[in-house]
Amino acid sequence: MKSKITKICCIGAGYVGGPTMAVIAQKCPDIQVTVVDLNTERIAAWNSENTDDIPIYEPGLSTIVAEARGRNLFFSTDVELAIDEADVIFISVNTPTKTYGKGKGMAADLKYIELCAREIAKVAKDNKIVVEKSTLPVRTAEAIKSILNNTGNGVQFQILSNPEFLAEGTAVTDLLHPDRILIGGDPTPEGQTAIQALVEVYANWVAVEKIVTTNIWSSELSKLTANAFLAQRISSINAISELCEKTGANVNEVARAIGMDSRIGSKFLKASVGFGGSCFQKDILNLVYIAKSYGMNEIADYWDQVIIMNNHQKKRFADNIVQTLYNTVADKKITFLGWAFKKDTNDTRESAAIYIANDLINEQAKIAVYDPKVPRKKMLADLDYLETRSYKANAKNLDTFENPYEACENAHAVAILTEWDEFITYNWQKIYDAMQKPAFVFDGRNLLNKSELEAIGFIYQAIGS
Ligand SMILES: NC(=O)c1ccc[n+]([C@@H]2O[C@H](COP(=O)([O-])OP(=O)(O)OC[C@H]3O[C@@H](n4cnc5c(N)ncnc54)[C@H](O)[C@@H]3O)[C@@H](O)[C@H]2O)c1
Repeated sequence: MKSKITKICCIGAGYVGGPTMAVIAQKCPDIQVTVVDLNTERIAAWNSENTDDIPIYEPGLSTIVAEARGRNLFFSTDVELAIDEADVIFISVNTPTKTYGKGKGMAADLKYIELCAREIAKVAKDNKIVVEKSTLPVRTAEAIKSILNNTGNGVQFQILSNPEFLAEGTAVTDLLHPDRILIGGDPTPEGQTAIQALVEVYANWVAVEKIVTTNIWSSELSKLTANAFLAQRISSINAISELCEKTGANVNEVARAIGMDSRIGSKFLKASVGFGGSCFQKDILNLVYIAKSYGMNEIADYWDQVIIMNNHQKKRFADNIVQTLYNTVADKKITFLGWAFKKDTNDTRESAAIYIANDLINEQAKIAVYDPKVPRKKMLADLDYLETRSYKANAKNLDTFENPYEACENAHAVAILTEWDEFITYNWQKIYDAMQKPAFVFDGRNLLNKSELEAIGFIYQAIGS
């Protein structure tokens, strides 16, 4: 095993693989970093001449790609070659919730991980370090090790777990200034050498005190636990938001008051229409599944409640729109500002907007959407994925706009579903003038100023007040 890393391969050019490797390449100009993917379209987009056209939108990312690409950062579809050349292979492929068979709807689907392990075993002709970057169920390294050792060419593999803690929307800042880097590996001397080799890569820009090393199982479980705790905070404040609405308390005031307690802290206490994103729900479901598979039903039920609360929050937001608009939204135009699951990303996976649009289309509403980064094609694909109605029926009921003011014309209500900063600075008087009266705003992100909107004439409702 080489103790100094000179060539890295990353399998998976997605929201994690792309930005993570771009930052490693920028910070380690002596290391050649090749990101590979089977998706030829995605790789072609990463190689776009204009780096503003790369497939993932993250503030600051296109500048880093422009600096490193072609120097020591490469995007390719030649998976075999990149594996063959590398000292270290990061596995950064998707691990979605299973949609079939045992564990359907809960367990992580590890088929892409297994394919990577088999490919690495087939190709590798010298010793390699294999790094789990994807979020994986605890003890997955055991399966990867078994595949590598039983189907390989007799070379040595060291498996490390190095989960990624970046948040979409702030991925570049998070990668440049991480709270910590976590690396898990075997306690054997070979395992420790592999850990050290990876520590040295990160030490190019991260203080060594922030690089935490553990055994491999602790590292795997820490990532699921971190996401479960973060999502739990959102569901906790959302649970209180409903109580606020009934009692005259204001959830922003409650969040501020409790967040000043240093034992609680102020982050992740913003009440909203519910969390989205590709990770929280999938990782908690996976945690629930793991607990159940060990017969720990109380533990499973405890974490399941975080998801139940999140689904309830989305549902009651849609129900409230219908109820407030005099119990019918049939043929009424309802404008969504935002479709991405959070601001500063073009990722829409599990976005609350998808579920709310679906519920309102069931009530025969006409949905109009403006999002600064999400194209119509993606919105329709998101709705299609739910399999509630035909693609054609969704397309008929969902209109999309390039201009937010046009999107709001003649609408009965505006729903804020993503906290894009630009929504705050809109000319709300102009929007009000163009809408049907009474004009409603349902603020699913607690983004706008209630008294300003009410002074214009809007009927304004926010989550938790
Ligand atoms: N998105 C996040 O914010 C985030 C944060 C931390 C961790 N994670 C975890 O990181 C992993 C990747 O997430 P993502 O959001 O980047 O997913 P993604 O779907 O954006 O990207 C995964 C990529 O892997 C490619 N791929 C799949 N199988 C392949 C194979 N056999 N060979 C080559 N390429 C293959 C796919 O084509 C896809 O482009 C997941 O396990 C996720 O849970 C995600």
